[in-house]
Amino acid sequence: MDVFEAIRKRRSVRLFQNTSVPLEDLLKIVDAGRLAPSGSNLQRREFIIITDRATLFRLNEVQPVFDTGAAIGVIVDQTRWAVEDASAAVENILLAATALGYGSCWIEGTLIPREEEVKELLNIPKEKRLFALIPIGIPLTSGEQAPKRPLEEITHLNRYGNKLSLPSEG
Ligand SMILES: Cc1cc2nc3c(=O)[nH]c(=O)nc-3n(C[C@H](O)[C@H](O)[C@H](O)COP(=O)(O)O)c2cc1C
Repeated sequence: MDVFEAIRKRRSVRLFQNTSVPLEDLLKIVDAGRLAPSGSNLQRREFIIITDRATLFRLNEVQPVFDTGAAIGVIVDQTRWAVEDASAAVENILLAATALGYGSCWIEGTLIPREEEVKELLNIPKEKRLFALIPIGIPLTSGEQAPKRPLEEITHLNRYGNKLSLPSEG
């Protein structure tokens, strides 16, 4: 699958078949996160792969999307660019998961109020941030793409306000 196909196929999957995910695939997905750009190439990101069923069950208390074989946590420190670096890694992870035929979802909003509790569960040091959790698994259904704003509505050519007339795409 090329990168454009992965971008088009990716969607937030929140319901999964309850099958395990081979560690080999999880390492490929994490490696895509490792290779993402980072400010000044500082690469302060770390990743945690979660395959333990009891831990995944506990993560369901954050949001019930972890009835699946695996999850990946993206950990950063509190330095400059941490949010950008973590975001770049998350997007690479989502695309790599899609390319390997897995569903995934960027879980951050529901994690924020429970971050300290989940860090404790996963033994993540207090000074680090658990930026996002990403469930990985085979989707239960092939969901529709979430509505996206049309390209011509959000694209300007040379000067803001110069709109392009483009064929509409999904
Ligand atoms: C910063 C950020 C935080 C998000 N947090 C959550 C979350 O906590 N729970 C969730 O179900 N989805 C979360 N999402 C996924 C969005 O809801 C999803 O990307 C959006 O609805 C568009 O759907 P799509 O990913 O299928 O294109 C988050 C996405 C981003 C970029």
